[in-house]
Amino acid sequence: MKKVVIYQSKYGAAKKYAEWIAEDLGCDLYEKRSIKPKQLEKYDTIIYGGGIYAGGISGISLLVENFKAIRDKDIILFTCGLADPEDKGNVDNIRAGLSKALTPDMLEKIKIFHLRGAMDYSKLGPVHKAMMAMLYKMMKKKDTNSFRSEDKEMLDSYGKNVDFTDRDTIKPIIHYIAEL
Ligand SMILES: Cc1cc2nc3c(=O)[nH]c(=O)nc-3n(C[C@H](O)[C@H](O)[C@H](O)COP(=O)(O)O)c2cc1C
Repeated sequence: MKKVVIYQSKYGAAKKYAEWIAEDLGCDLYEKRSIKPKQLEKYDTIIYGGGIYAGGISGISLLVENFKAIRDKDIILFTCGLADPEDKGNVDNIRAGLSKALTPDMLEKIKIFHLRGAMDYSKLGPVHKAMMAMLYKMMKKKDTNSFRSEDKEMLDSYGKNVDFTDRDTIKPIIHYIAEL
């Protein structure tokens, strides 16, 4: 069974997870922009991972645009966001975002995992910095009682350097793939 891990990562968290997964599986690893759709043909299992940005998954177009060609393969998607995936509300939010990007057919076919990323405000690009500043300003005006844990985590980490990446959290993915 030939496997490949592909990722798109702006600040390195999804990349780190992709490298760990490829290392554990002993399989090929590509950044999304370095692999052509035609190259997907030779794989039986495709693992794709990307960071979450305002509810959307970075680079998920790889799966969407090539779904017809890869639908009979085993497809695994991992998301990488700041919100804690141990919290059911956060996972519901990520899933709601995914159901906008993926069709019901894709959602049924693709096995999805959620991993927790990192954020270093000193490394954010100007657009992302401005987006986070706007979000922070909006949230500061809100009633804190109405906060979901995701909102609270965002406020607490604002302006800081936080890193929740954890190699142990890829274990369920490795286990799932071993059972295919
Ligand atoms: C502008 C911006 C928007 C973000 N939106 C979300 C979000 O909606 N949900 C979430 O869990 N994390 C969000 N994050 C955090 C990123 O998902 C997190 O930093 C992740 O580790 C990024 O992965 P990457 O560095 O591999 O691209 C956001 C970060 C930025 C800069």
